[in-house]
Amino acid sequence: RRAPLLAPSFLAADLANLQAETERLATSAADWLHFDVMDGRFVPNISFGLPVLQAVARYAKQPIDVHLMIEEPQNYLSAFRDAGASIITVHYEACPHLHRVVQQIKQLGCRAGVALNPHTPVALLEDIAADLDLVLIMSVNPGFGGQAFIPNTLKKVAMVKSLLLDAGSDALIEVDGGVNMTNAGPLVEAGADVLVAGNFVFSAPEGPVAALANLRDHLA
Ligand code: DX5
Ligand code: ZN
Repeated sequence: RRAPLLAPSFLAADLANLQAETERLATSAADWLHFDVMDGRFVPNISFGLPVLQAVARYAKQPIDVHLMIEEPQNYLSAFRDAGASIITVHYEACPHLHRVVQQIKQLGCRAGVALNPHTPVALLEDIAADLDLVLIMSVNPGFGGQAFIPNTLKKVAMVKSLLLDAGSDALIEVDGGVNMTNAGPLVEAGADVLVAGNFVFSAPEGPVAALANLRDHLA
């Protein structure tokens, strides 16, 4: 099995010290920086948006993986690209014209991801899989950090893996929510390529850099 990419989530970082947080991640085991945008409409919480992304991007050394938990994401794609996004993920549930949105993301020069809420069946991706660079499987209900991992995710990851194989898609599988030392190994076994972690990384007593290094070693 291949070592997964690690994507610490800024939602759990010290938001009063974003420069310092971004700089210490720069030399850590983080492969991507996960940036959670919430609009208080698609999800029952508001996080941060474009100006904050722009600020983080000034110090970021890794690609910024933007997870849009917002309605009508099609209206903001170029703004997020301009603010520093390398990967843009929209929610299946927020996009009646998902195929168009995915093409728009790719035309902007970003990698295109689609996220599924915990209750959304994997099979709905069948006719878009070949167009995707990334599938994000939510392992908690989106809106908040620090929630418990939903065990059914393991089965979903395995299903995405086989759906992508059938579609001839080389999209990466990303898992987001409640990822920790206990479920990380089984997730990778099931087919996860990218692990997002918020509280596991930033609330670790040993600090984020050591937590990421420990996770990397654990999965090696
Ligand atoms: C949840 C966000 C996640 C969150 C993960 O809506 O999409 O990226 O920050 O945080 P933890 O790892 O604490 O569940
Ligand atoms: Zn996220």
